[in-house]
Amino acid sequence: MPLPGTVKIVEVGPRDGLQNEPESVSTADKIRLIDLLADAGLTVIESGSFVSPRWVPKMADTAAVLAGINQRPGVSYPVLVPNMKGLEVALAAGAREIAVFGAASETFSQRNINCSIADSLNRFAPVCAKALASGLRVRGYVSCVLGCPYEGRVDVPVVADVSRRLVELGCYEVSLGDTIGVGTALQAQAMVEAVAELVPRDRLAVHFHDTYGQALANILACLERGIAVVDSSVAGLGGCPYAAGATGNVATEDVLYMLAGMGLATGVDLSGVAAAGRYISEILGRAAASRVSRALAAREAAH
Ligand code: HMG
Ligand code: MG
Repeated sequence: MPLPGTVKIVEVGPRDGLQNEPESVSTADKIRLIDLLADAGLTVIESGSFVSPRWVPKMADTAAVLAGINQRPGVSYPVLVPNMKGLEVALAAGAREIAVFGAASETFSQRNINCSIADSLNRFAPVCAKALASGLRVRGYVSCVLGCPYEGRVDVPVVADVSRRLVELGCYEVSLGDTIGVGTALQAQAMVEAVAELVPRDRLAVHFHDTYGQALANILACLERGIAVVDSSVAGLGGCPYAAGATGNVATEDVLYMLAGMGLATGVDLSGVAAAGRYISEILGRAAASRVSRALAAREAAH
């Protein structure tokens, strides 16, 4: 299958990244980070979540974040919503796009959103219907597509079935999440092929955490299978609070470097993203978990 000429990057750092960083980041710093990412040309920037603050305290200021960012035309700022209460708060905060998040593992579903896979889909149905009726766009996630922190192996047909159900509920795109970053390239391709039998490839995205260092290889493998949307996180921030040991998402800087080197267009400025990554890494008191960012910094220091 030919590689896509253009790849859309979905920046998830301000949500998937910051939800799990041990250091607290102020609302003002989150706002600045998101604005820097938009300045760099990113057109989808996941900006927070309307979940229980008892479950994920780091996202409790999402309404203030949405109110504070300089929302640019042509840029989408999705927020995660697990239930009707979350949707109501998201609507009140002026969100224009939400994401519902399910899983292909029963135990992960219970630990993450306190219900079974079937119950989660039943819960998402009215949430999606109301969001769509209110003019919002709805994205869907499936977690644990290549492995579960509690159950280990995950059945690919379950991944495909949950993906199909999310599309039926009105999700314009389904992001396939390797939540704990355990998958390898051929497994990723087989999983994408199975899902693509039920969901068109142009409605699929991939979402790799980089725990085992496989994310770039997996992304390339999926691009070769016709996937043209990639989730990534500036500076490789984050993890998942309900997936012990999971590290951050693949770093946006690293994905951009690979895609540019392959001649695939993204419309995103790598140096701008790297600057945003340095900004947030300094606040977190650590180096960016992006090899490309570190290489660029070393090159600049040498000049
Ligand atoms: P629950 O305890 O079953 O909820 O949690 P409940 O409906 O029984 O309500 C309990 C309390 O929570 C009530 O408050 C509700 O009002 C409140 P109380 O009366 O006790 O004071 N509540 C809420 N508050 C704010 N916003 C809400 C909300 N809903 C209920 N939306 C629930 C169920 C889904 C709420 C909980 O499990 C939860 O919030 N989970 C979120 C977990 C999460 O955010 N995980 C990280 C994101 S997923 C991820 O990172 C994976 C991904 O990146 C893809 C990948 O990598 O695979 C997307
Ligand atoms: Mg994730």
